[in-house]
Amino acid sequence: DGFPADRLFGRGYSYTYDDVIFLPHYIDFPADAVDLSTQLSRNIRLSVPCVASPMDTVTEASMAVSMAALGGVGIVHYNNTSAEQATIIRSVKSRRIPFVTDPVIMGPSDRILTADEFGSAPCVLVTESGSAKSKPVGVVWSADWWNRTDRDAPLSSYMVGLAASAPSSYDLEQVAASLGLNGGKCVPTVSEELGEVVDLVTEADVERIRALPKLGVPSFGSDGRFLVGAAMGTREQDKERLEHLVRAGANVVILDSSQGNSIYQIEMIKYVKSTYPDLDVIGGNVVTAYQAQNLIQAGADGLRVGMGSGSICTTQEVCAVGRGQATAVYKVSSIAQHSGVPVIADGGISNSGHIVKALVLGASTVMMGSFLAGSTEAPGVYEYRDGRKVKKYRGMGSLEAMTKGSDARYLGDTLKLKIAQGVVGAVADKGSVLKFIPYTMQAVKQGFQDLGASSLPSAHSLLRNQVLRLEVRTGAAQVEGGVHGLVSYEKKAF
Ligand code: XMP
Repeated sequence: DGFPADRLFGRGYSYTYDDVIFLPHYIDFPADAVDLSTQLSRNIRLSVPCVASPMDTVTEASMAVSMAALGGVGIVHYNNTSAEQATIIRSVKSRRIPFVTDPVIMGPSDRILTADEFGSAPCVLVTESGSAKSKPVGVVWSADWWNRTDRDAPLSSYMVGLAASAPSSYDLEQVAASLGLNGGKCVPTVSEELGEVVDLVTEADVERIRALPKLGVPSFGSDGRFLVGAAMGTREQDKERLEHLVRAGANVVILDSSQGNSIYQIEMIKYVKSTYPDLDVIGGNVVTAYQAQNLIQAGADGLRVGMGSGSICTTQEVCAVGRGQATAVYKVSSIAQHSGVPVIADGGISNSGHIVKALVLGASTVMMGSFLAGSTEAPGVYEYRDGRKVKKYRGMGSLEAMTKGSDARYLGDTLKLKIAQGVVGAVADKGSVLKFIPYTMQAVKQGFQDLGASSLPSAHSLLRNQVLRLEVRTGAAQVEGGVHGLVSYEKKAF
């Protein structure tokens, strides 16, 4: 019944995730028994197969910290100077709690004249000199500030004194225990290495995190700190960037290109492996066995798969090159598995079913842009459009992003004329990844259970051995597989 994968994907069609559907198999274990642990690259293990894409509206410190805390990983974008990218990596490395607070910091002689100065923070942290680099001495709560009549008084005259701070290497429970030293309401965390205040953790933060579904086993690098990756290019100056990234503590680098099978990338893979033998380097993007073989031969420790499948991509329209993502993941994984090189299915993920399809078709992880954009942890600020709360999400090949410097990914640096291969858009507010990723992973486990696959290796071997079968969905079958025939409905998954 149904088709084995090699027959279905050998018919000359480019299939997307939505085009194909798995036939259910046999269940003999509970969904909670499914183990989603996996390899990001040859030497890096994750407990959760999720990777945040190196895009400037997706992954900076906040996303990378939360993804590592969940058991996945974030890859910091490089649409910035190498010093800025290294600062983001250091910021991830300096934390152990699963979020970034970005405290508002002022000095004892400063004044808070308008409520705007609090931003969205519940309080202002007062340090000796007013900078993150000096000792925390007190806090001013916005609720107290609103009750004051002498708002032009210096903060020192009415701040609540702070007795203690906690090392930023403390985990959430250690930080929670330190709250008591300051009367239970908040505690600053301080990094000895950076010599500065890192976060200001409040009692409300601790309660919010404790109320979340249980996170996976956090991802740590061999340095014992949160695992974090960084994207880079293949130009000569990227060698200098690489040095910055390594010094800052990046655990893995991804060579970021929309067509990775190039002499530039092959030479850079060789350079990275010969200069930093202990650093994993992920190559891509690729969508064919031929491309994959070249990068594997050059020494890539992982492959990123996808061309034009991203929600903001226009590469297939502009360049007439690419591949349906289900076909690309299956074809590349079939080759990469022989060499023990893990595959990242990059782009085109818009629901948990797409994640199940990517992982069962051979990927070891999924990389997501739009799925994570619009979350609390994505860079940027929320705005309202047509009454909806949204955050900006843009392609790194959009004119707007390239103007800021990301044109190397699209090899635009050699040309005077910039051609966009992506768009600028916005996505709806999704709340925190710390909440929706655990729910999404539970849904993925249920998909694996329906297929009788208790782990990623088990799914891959069931597919290879033709036990798992697929079919192509007709247009009508796709409509039937989605919600249909209702006048209205509310789509709420958890
Ligand atoms: P999703 O579907 O998760 O896709 O939003 C994210 C992936 O899309 C790729 N990307 C681009 N591709 N033009 C493209 O053709 C672009 O401007 C662009 N920006 C990002 C990238 O692989 C990312 O992970």
